[in-house]
Amino acid sequence: MSTPYLTRRSQLETYFDRTAVEAWSRLTSDAPVSKIRATVRAGRDTMRATLLDWMPEDLTGKRLLDAGCGTGALAVEAARRGAEVVAIDVSPTLIGLARERLPAISGPGSVEFRVGDMLDPWLGRFDHIVAMDSLIHYQAPDIVRALAELSLRTDASLLFTVAPRTALLTLMHAAGKLFPKADRAPAIVPVTEGGLRRRIARESALKRFAVGRTRRVNSGFYLSNAFELSKVASSHPRPQPELRHLRMRVEDGNEGGRLP
Ligand SMILES: C[S@@+](CC[C@H](N)C(=O)[O-])C[C@H]1O[C@@H](n2cnc3c(N)ncnc32)[C@H](O)[C@@H]1O
Repeated sequence: MSTPYLTRRSQLETYFDRTAVEAWSRLTSDAPVSKIRATVRAGRDTMRATLLDWMPEDLTGKRLLDAGCGTGALAVEAARRGAEVVAIDVSPTLIGLARERLPAISGPGSVEFRVGDMLDPWLGRFDHIVAMDSLIHYQAPDIVRALAELSLRTDASLLFTVAPRTALLTLMHAAGKLFPKADRAPAIVPVTEGGLRRRIARESALKRFAVGRTRRVNSGFYLSNAFELSKVASSHPRPQPELRHLRMRVEDGNEGGRLP
């Protein structure tokens, strides 16, 4: 992946593993939080429910990747619906918390928490990949490159969120720059829906995927846009290797048009 991706991933690891770990742990628990944080918690609950709704109710036998899982709430819900979940995050501390919080899952579902990069190809293939608010800090070209990489291992759908570009968010972004550097969270990178759709359309690895449902969740200080990328059945199957070989030979005239 690109240098900006790797730089940003390392900043996020530091931020989620140290700077924000207390706040993040509290936000993702049932503990009381400020009114502002309560709006964020409510927005995140709605977003998680939306993404879970976009997958089949019964996930038995399905493999799901929770990409950038944080403390693992979505992974647990998916496992309760039967999925075999791999949940990965770059922050070892958040993965530690996720493991501590993992309840007993009754039924066939399971969760395996891992520390690492969501783009690691060794994680294998998945029916569904969900990246809830884990790509929002990356630049648009890196978001689409990450989606392209993930799509190579996706059999059904790839669900993700981005921060929409709005006047308010641009203002908050500018205000954030007034804080001393040490207190700052890695900036969220807002993207427009049109710009993102154009980049997705231009990305050859995503040719077999179509943008399906989208939903903007806006709850007080939480603002995020969900996208569904679904794999489409190919209407033009690629020629079989033997046939392609044969056609080349015939077109080249090497065999004088004779069939072997
Ligand atoms: C805003 S939190 C969201 C966590 C979780 N998806 C949720 O909604 O509760 C973003 C998470 O993505 C993780 N993350 C960011 N980039 C990552 C990467 N390249 N690979 C794995 N995790 C990543 C961060 O460490 C952080 O825990």
